[in-house]
Amino acid sequence: ALITLRQLLDHAAETGYGVPAFNINNMEQGLAIMEAARKCDAPVIMQASRGARSYAGDIMLSKMIEALAAMYPEIPLCMHQDHGNNEATCMSAIRHGFTSVMMDGSLEADAKTPASYEYNVEITERVARMAHWVGASVEGELGVLGSLETGEGEAEDGHGFEGKLSHDQLLTDPDQAVDFVTKTKVDALAIACGTSHGAYKFSRKPDGDILAMRVIEEIHSKLPNTHLVMHGSSSVPQDLQDIINEFGGEMPQTYGVPVEEIVRGIKHGVRKVNIDTDCRMAMTGQFRKIAMQKPQEFDPRKFLKPAMDAMEQLCADRFEAFGTAGNA
Ligand code: G3H
Ligand code: 13P
Ligand code: NA
Ligand code: ZN
Repeated sequence: ALITLRQLLDHAAETGYGVPAFNINNMEQGLAIMEAARKCDAPVIMQASRGARSYAGDIMLSKMIEALAAMYPEIPLCMHQDHGNNEATCMSAIRHGFTSVMMDGSLEADAKTPASYEYNVEITERVARMAHWVGASVEGELGVLGSLETGEGEAEDGHGFEGKLSHDQLLTDPDQAVDFVTKTKVDALAIACGTSHGAYKFSRKPDGDILAMRVIEEIHSKLPNTHLVMHGSSSVPQDLQDIINEFGGEMPQTYGVPVEEIVRGIKHGVRKVNIDTDCRMAMTGQFRKIAMQKPQEFDPRKFLKPAMDAMEQLCADRFEAFGTAGNA
């Protein structure tokens, strides 16, 4: 059954677990997530980016979610807008059946420039007020995602901003977080702690200098009742890099967010953990493998089924590691 982010994360906080939020663009990703959830008895957060909405189409996405909820009636399912950039994106998502929206006011509406604090408070408060009128939940974001190694802030197209950002901008300020949550009344708060989107997060296994989990602990100590969200939380597992590269891929060596660091975050208020890249890599590894091992194959299902199975395994691993399993 469909439920809101607030309902799901309140339960996660009471019980002390985290919930992976997996991105969905197509049927195969939806089936992989739900099948893993059924096997693990886990509640689900599925999220669609603006890119996913234009890729699949709003009607296709919302009917797909309806279908998944009907196929897996025992699984609590939150359907969330990932990185909403303005009021229209958030309101149209709700109209298409989403139970939760992210208003990402850390960037301007063009998703290319860091926004002022005042802009962020104003637009997030407005979206939260409107969403709450109709029973949907809201996630806000304070702090700009980007690399503490290079100082590059992250614009939506994956390119860095012009000019380097300071550590102050790349790490959420705990006192400002208190003010932000008080003023906006968001249900969940995404924070910046040195992670970034995509596969290329860190040039080495991250330590506290480049992945600032201590910031999360400090925010949680000042906002013990606020559900925290970690974006850019793919672990970029070595075995998935290896499969891709073994079968003709050319991904330079890279490092993601270790699962044990996320588990540490979950002990300190992190309830929603955004993962897209790992799912993409799990699927792509299988596409490459089949394409190389069976060059005579041309039935898309022969590519998509192994890809779905690999993504299901990835999802199940995260449900187990984050303590989501057993809580549906
Ligand atoms: O926010 C980033 C997510 O991985 C979604 O990516 O905008 O390419 O769909 P996307
Ligand atoms: P990854 O690129 O690390 O999977 O992050 C996904 C994300 O934060 C979506 O909002
Ligand atoms: Na989100
Ligand atoms: Zn994100």
